[in-house]
Amino acid sequence: MILDGKSIAEKVRAEVREGVERFARRHGRAPGLDVLLVGEDPASQVYTRNKERAARDVGIRGRLEVLPAETREAELLARIAALNADPSVDAILVQLPLPAGIGETRVLDAVAPDKDVDGFHPHNVGLLVSGRPALVPCTPLGCMRLIAEAEAAGVVQVRGARALVIGRSNIVGKPMAQLLQSAHATVTLAHSHTRDLPALCREADILVAAIGRPETIRGEWIKPGAVVIDVGINRIPAAEEGKTRLVGDVAFAEAKERAGAISPVPGGVGPLTIAYLLANTLRAAEQRIAG
Ligand code: GUN
Repeated sequence: MILDGKSIAEKVRAEVREGVERFARRHGRAPGLDVLLVGEDPASQVYTRNKERAARDVGIRGRLEVLPAETREAELLARIAALNADPSVDAILVQLPLPAGIGETRVLDAVAPDKDVDGFHPHNVGLLVSGRPALVPCTPLGCMRLIAEAEAAGVVQVRGARALVIGRSNIVGKPMAQLLQSAHATVTLAHSHTRDLPALCREADILVAAIGRPETIRGEWIKPGAVVIDVGINRIPAAEEGKTRLVGDVAFAEAKERAGAISPVPGGVGPLTIAYLLANTLRAAEQRIAG
């Protein structure tokens, strides 16, 4: 089966829309998400505009604040401190990558943990690793939802499955491995120094590729019937002169012949990442009110 991220994301967004309406009825205001973008990275401009629009679409008060590329770290930290102190702000997202000269760690550590919808603050990372309720990064949450859909269709049982996560980033690979482990899979975390990746892939009932290199995972590496989640978004030259197209980290046409379920690029993980940003915003708002 093809895991259709767009239709699954629509279900998540409908659930969030209902939750936002309930929250607004009870508390007399909508949950608030503030997105900070520093500089003019074209991809980040598209992503942040999409996040703001998606927030408004489910009734969240979404606000995108664009700061000039020359912004100094101290100014950005002051902006974050103001948002931390503002009771109408439930969720803060600082878009990455930040311009050179701004310390990413210092910035991410400055976001109040209870407003950290990206789940990047060490407080939330520690809660996740301890198996305690936390704000969890959006992309891994989206991947888990896709895997849950495959499980509901009888393709896999996560409990006891062999899961292979390729890529050890803080945004995707590491939290993904934690979530799969909490769901009782037996997890291997592979990376650029891993030996004989094809052999590991051939044993994986669940394979999550977050490498950032186009079409690296070949069809013949896939265990027949496996669930394949492709987190990669790579732009490569298209057949037509001067055009480009998006592909994942998995050679989709080959892999879909062997996989039991596979997510496409585009239209797989991407739509779910934004849907779970909205879900995390609602969750942060509810948790802050509950104290
Ligand atoms: N840049 C690419 N992915 C992400 C993400 O998940 N969160 C933020 N803040 N920036 C990103």
